[in-house]
Amino acid sequence: MEKKEMIYEGKAKKVFRTDDPALLIVDYKDDATAFNGQKRGTIGGKGIINNKMSNYLMAILEKEGVPTHLVQELSERETLVKCVKIVPLEVIIRNIAAGSFSARYGVEEGTPLKISTIEFSYKNDDLGDPLINDYHALALGLATEKEIETIKKYAFKVNDVLRALWAKRGVTLVDFKLEFGRLADGTIVLADEISPDTCRFWDAETGKKLDKDRFRRDLGNVEDAYTEIIGRLVDGE
Ligand code: TMP
Repeated sequence: MEKKEMIYEGKAKKVFRTDDPALLIVDYKDDATAFNGQKRGTIGGKGIINNKMSNYLMAILEKEGVPTHLVQELSERETLVKCVKIVPLEVIIRNIAAGSFSARYGVEEGTPLKISTIEFSYKNDDLGDPLINDYHALALGLATEKEIETIKKYAFKVNDVLRALWAKRGVTLVDFKLEFGRLADGTIVLADEISPDTCRFWDAETGKKLDKDRFRRDLGNVEDAYTEIIGRLVDGE
């Protein structure tokens, strides 16, 4: 499958057309941004790690009944995926208070939540991805009621599968962000990526952060954390 013209370049990935209109090639970059692009940098080898992790986890999720965009890994940084129209919602699941949840509700980071939660942000960089509720999403026509129901069901299933998988590897899955897309026939599938850029991973013993918060918060040893977390995943088989 050959790469044709680039149709999109985001903060962390480039997307290319292929000979098949139903398939795209994603190419993962080492570029990192935070705070809606205000902070910029590179994390050496990140693209390779995120490509590998995302594909590894999506293949498992697919077997567990969550349809994904994954078709086939093509190289260290490139993956063939199904072409989708992204639903403009960032779907965030949380198991432990951290980040914007801790800040917004005044809950100390690390506080376990009584139940796992879900929230949506409207994916819109100009607005800074504002938090919205289901009614807002419906009112804005971002998704249908049935799509929102499906997205919630899949997101919690992803949480169940990944929480258990990471626990076996000595890692606490604190929270994560998912994006879903629609295939040409309207089927909802998990898209984008699942990586240290989009999840909070804490070492279960020490609480050490093994994700992009090391970059966001200038904690240092960013590359080492990415290398450690991908190692935990693949060596923990
Ligand atoms: P938050 O606590 O900053 O809202 O982040 C929640 C989760 O979402 C965390 O695992 C990091 C991830 N995330 C993204 O993937 N992209 C983003 O733009 C932001 C703000 C968070």
